[in-house]
Amino acid sequence: MKKYYITTPIYYVNDKPHIGHAYTTIAADIAARWKRLQGCDVYFLTGTDEHGAKICQSAQAKGITPKELCDQMSGYFKQAWKLLNISNDGFIRTTDKMHEETVQLIMQKLYDKGLIYKKEYEGLYCVGCEKFIAEKDLDENGCCPDHKKKPVLQSEENYFFKLSQFNQQLIDMIENPANPNRIEVLPETRRNEILGKLRLGLEDISISRAALDWGIPLPFDKSQTVYVWVDALINYVSAIGYKDNKEKFEKYWPADIHLMAKDILWFHSVIWPALLMGADIPVHKRVYAHGFFTINGDKMSKTLGNVITPQQLIDKFGVEPARYLTVSLIPFGPDGDISMAELVKKYNVDLANNLGNLISRTNKMAEKYFEGKVPDCEVEDNLTKEVAKILDIDYGKSIENMQFHKTSEILQQAITLINQQIEQDAPWKLAKTDTQKLAQCMYCYFQATDLIILHLIPFMPTLSEKIWNLNGATGNIIDVAKKYFNDKILPIEGFSPKGNKLGKFEILFPRIQTEKL
Ligand code: MSP
Repeated sequence: MKKYYITTPIYYVNDKPHIGHAYTTIAADIAARWKRLQGCDVYFLTGTDEHGAKICQSAQAKGITPKELCDQMSGYFKQAWKLLNISNDGFIRTTDKMHEETVQLIMQKLYDKGLIYKKEYEGLYCVGCEKFIAEKDLDENGCCPDHKKKPVLQSEENYFFKLSQFNQQLIDMIENPANPNRIEVLPETRRNEILGKLRLGLEDISISRAALDWGIPLPFDKSQTVYVWVDALINYVSAIGYKDNKEKFEKYWPADIHLMAKDILWFHSVIWPALLMGADIPVHKRVYAHGFFTINGDKMSKTLGNVITPQQLIDKFGVEPARYLTVSLIPFGPDGDISMAELVKKYNVDLANNLGNLISRTNKMAEKYFEGKVPDCEVEDNLTKEVAKILDIDYGKSIENMQFHKTSEILQQAITLINQQIEQDAPWKLAKTDTQKLAQCMYCYFQATDLIILHLIPFMPTLSEKIWNLNGATGNIIDVAKKYFNDKILPIEGFSPKGNKLGKFEILFPRIQTEKL
């Protein structure tokens, strides 16, 4: 069985989750669910990043210890993912003992191999980014352009990792498709930016702090703690048993894809592979960075007070429509604006009017004309074949490439096709003139809708099952989907069988009145 290891970033616990975090996590969940339907052995990892100056300061401001803050906040992340029906297989916290020991093991290995040395260093450090920042990269007010805060001058004796040593190797791994250790950095525009920066030359990086206690002590010098980014990146191997579960580690590593936003692509496409190579661990296969969500044109931030929380979306749309909308509103890659008004508009068009209408009209007509049963008739079902054609071409490819806005377009196109067919057939007229044809048409609507439902599973795992039952389909929806995605053979056993009783109808996507916004 093919394996698929997918990760999200581990999120800082200085704040509660917002929909920026949810975006990456839902995207990873959809990809993970899709891979499971394809029969892969999936490991989907997420978690929280709990060390470093940022967390320490945040705890101080709240008057609690860093550990108390971490316990509380990682709980909020776990809760949010549960609410959003995220199917992660693992949740790592960097304060887990197993992780801390793995970090120390890898640090010791790098040290023993002569890849770590000590030197005096002075630089400007941005706590928000948890990284040193060059003077030329500050804005006109001398602030970090992302966090709008002045960096602090940090001067101490630190341990350094010989990153520069890996410069040429990294260029080749990212640039050359024939390199056996190729790392595919996506999207291409960002890969080119990374390559451009690599060509300017790499400097060694500081990987420890002398003045910060809230971190993992270096095994070879306990007076210093491991730099939070090095600590964090190692989560991807510690979580799958690098230190003490060889079997699991060898099963899932290397990661098939690390997902994140553009802000942390450098760490994942340059520093992480260099650390892995230094520690003689194979490198990951793919890194994919999406853009930032902006809200009404502004960056989402606590200071601006424009943060949308997962709970707000759930309250407005319900859990699974919220998942669908979050990932399908903007293309995965560039920055994109997501106002509440746009979300409501897409909800009404795609879910209330198109999908919701399809389910409700077919169910109601079956109630009216066929005593709430799937019509029993003989017919050649061309409609489902047409729907399959639409979905076949690009559905899977768009998910593999994380282009969920495209997937949603494809789904909508297929749903529209059935709705148009209904308009054209006008079953309400056939009811008066040709009941045999009416039965044949209705039967096909159910089959074609069942096919759509299989493709909705990664986006709406619970609702798709609900619609499956409404449509009187039989068997375990996941098993039916797995079989179909494996053999693509129509007709499909389990799809609304002739004469089967439909489920009790309920409105799944009530229209949202826009004037109430
Ligand atoms: N702790 C580090 C990651 C370590 S991974 C080894 C970190 N954490 S973070 O909490 O700041 O999360 C950053 C990630 O959250 C982004 O890369 C992205 O996945 C997600 N997003 C946070 N805000 C976002 C938006 N406004 N828009 C889209 N994604 C956003 O960096």
